[in-house]
Amino acid sequence: MSGSSRKGKVDGFGVDVADGWLQVKLAAMSTVLAFDDAARLVPQLHEIYGNANDRRVVENPTRSSRMAQSAPASSNAGNNAFRDKEKPQAVRTANIVAARAVADAIRTSLGPRGMDKMIQTGKGETIITNDGNTMLPAMSVLHPAAKMLVDLANAQDIEAGDGTTSVVVIAGSLLGAAERLLAKGIHPTVISESFSRAAAQAVKTLHEISTPISITDRQTLLKAASTSLSSKIVAQEPKLAPMAVDSVLKIIDAKTADNVDLRNIRVLKKAGGVIDDSDMVDGLVLSQQVVKSGGGPTRIEKARIGLIQFQLSPPKPDMENQIVVNDYRQMDKILKEERAYLLNMVKKIKKAKCNVLLIQKSILRDAVNDLSLHFLAKLGILCIKDIERDEVEFICKSTGCKPVADVDSFTEDKLASADLIEEVSSMGARIVRVTGIKQQNVAKTVSIVVRGANPLILDEAARSLHDAHCVIRCLVKKKALIPGGGAPEMAVTHALSRLALSSPYPDNICFKAFAEALEVIPVTLAENAGLNSIRVVTELRSRHANGEHNVGVSIKRGGVGIMGSAESGGSDGGEGVMQPLLVTTSAIEQATETVKMILRIDDIALSR
Ligand SMILES: Nc1ncnc2c1ncn2[C@@H]1O[C@H](COP(=O)(O)OP(=O)(O)OP(=O)(O)O)[C@@H](O)[C@H]1O
Ligand SMILES: [Mg+2]
Repeated sequence: MSGSSRKGKVDGFGVDVADGWLQVKLAAMSTVLAFDDAARLVPQLHEIYGNANDRRVVENPTRSSRMAQSAPASSNAGNNAFRDKEKPQAVRTANIVAARAVADAIRTSLGPRGMDKMIQTGKGETIITNDGNTMLPAMSVLHPAAKMLVDLANAQDIEAGDGTTSVVVIAGSLLGAAERLLAKGIHPTVISESFSRAAAQAVKTLHEISTPISITDRQTLLKAASTSLSSKIVAQEPKLAPMAVDSVLKIIDAKTADNVDLRNIRVLKKAGGVIDDSDMVDGLVLSQQVVKSGGGPTRIEKARIGLIQFQLSPPKPDMENQIVVNDYRQMDKILKEERAYLLNMVKKIKKAKCNVLLIQKSILRDAVNDLSLHFLAKLGILCIKDIERDEVEFICKSTGCKPVADVDSFTEDKLASADLIEEVSSMGARIVRVTGIKQQNVAKTVSIVVRGANPLILDEAARSLHDAHCVIRCLVKKKALIPGGGAPEMAVTHALSRLALSSPYPDNICFKAFAEALEVIPVTLAENAGLNSIRVVTELRSRHANGEHNVGVSIKRGGVGIMGSAESGGSDGGEGVMQPLLVTTSAIEQATETVKMILRIDDIALSR
């Protein structure tokens, strides 16, 4: 390879590293994070590539002496193997720097005193959020290694639903630990293997400190839901945590359940009022309004509900066609036909004893016209149009009705029964409530109407509620709680540091580094709360060494405190800050997996 082509490649790589990949562009926030490390790396790359042409490698003295010891052949200047060791290292460092930048960007959002981020999307929408898995995908992260952390938050969201900020912060800290171990000359594969053993030990320790719970114990579930909500903007709302717990308890059989299908809980957002006006309805709530222009009923007792996917309006001709009628008799005939066509349909609907008609939205035809509305009103049928396609499944599941695609197959057995359907209005919004659903064999479903002053708060409230639902789901899946507030991470740190003392190389060094990396959670919680993090962590270390694994960062006391027991009432004087075991175990396991993956990359290649 000629000198100039090598140089070109260097420049190309250098430009990529400096301007593109190492700058995690948070374009959505109009922020570009630039890293000094990028500047530090580029001359290094130039040294490796540029000087290779004259077969002379510029190397720092400590490294060359180490290399000389470990691989005598490589001391030969210009040796390919020698150069090959530099590039993987540069790539690894670049990956670590980029990924850590992402973790640092969201670190300030962790915990009850964490801040929110305002994100402006490409479409001009604004999102205000504290949720890790909402922030990260919204930031247009460019570097492939940084993207792995975005995927990590998503993986945690799927597995546990909460802890999406923690998982990224932990991964960032573990990468920092790995970087220090690499600098000591430990091989990346050795580090990654040791880290997975450390993660397994961590999970074991977490199991040891966990308290088994019963799903029927509502008080305990409430604590977990409140802990999850405490870091959100809705933290002060007393209604949300009970609503989250009760809605999950309604859709499962608490004695036998081992999972929760959150699709059975429908969250409806309606602007107006405050979050405290949010309400849970045991039944179905529709955001569409009753069509009133025909003069039909708006409230029906003993409802027989039918859901149709055809329209009660005359068929339209093709877009391109036009029919010109210039004969009055012909016109009369068309009108009569239309009347007969619509009347026939409405009569068939009435014959099936239906008195509430839900019509699926269609882009091709109007759902109803004046004439059909008139007929529906005459026969006392309540009509709701514009049911979205993706709502159909939930409506069918919760009421037991079956969607009908053709009027000829509209029969009584496809209808659902309910005690009452009525349109209610509160705080400037109208909704339709269906209560007292009678059908047998229908899935238990719940609807929650979230109210809020503006769409930004509404969206964040709905996201927070989802986190709380996920926390309860975690507890149903794995019925155990651990204290929160950084206590589990400190307990793991203590256990792993002790284990490191009696472990052989490389576990002794790697376990210690892993343990210290986990301290990032209590440190960040304390920093975000404006506490002296060094003092807090030092006290936590000493109390955990005395066997108090229940002690964490207390926001209330402004220092260190007992986080609380799983028993209702917190008989140990704790604050009742409890979180599901699954959230923390999954965070540690998934963060370790991602760190291992990043460590094992030794080259980046572009594909067309
Ligand atoms: N009242 C509290 N006192 C101390 N620590 C708390 C309290 N409530 C929650 N925490 C801690 O805050 C951390 C969770 O913070 P946060 O909810 O902001 O992030 P996350 O759960 O990791 O991510 P996300 O909720 O965005 O998915 C946990 O470590 C939890 O133990
Ligand atoms: Mg949370």
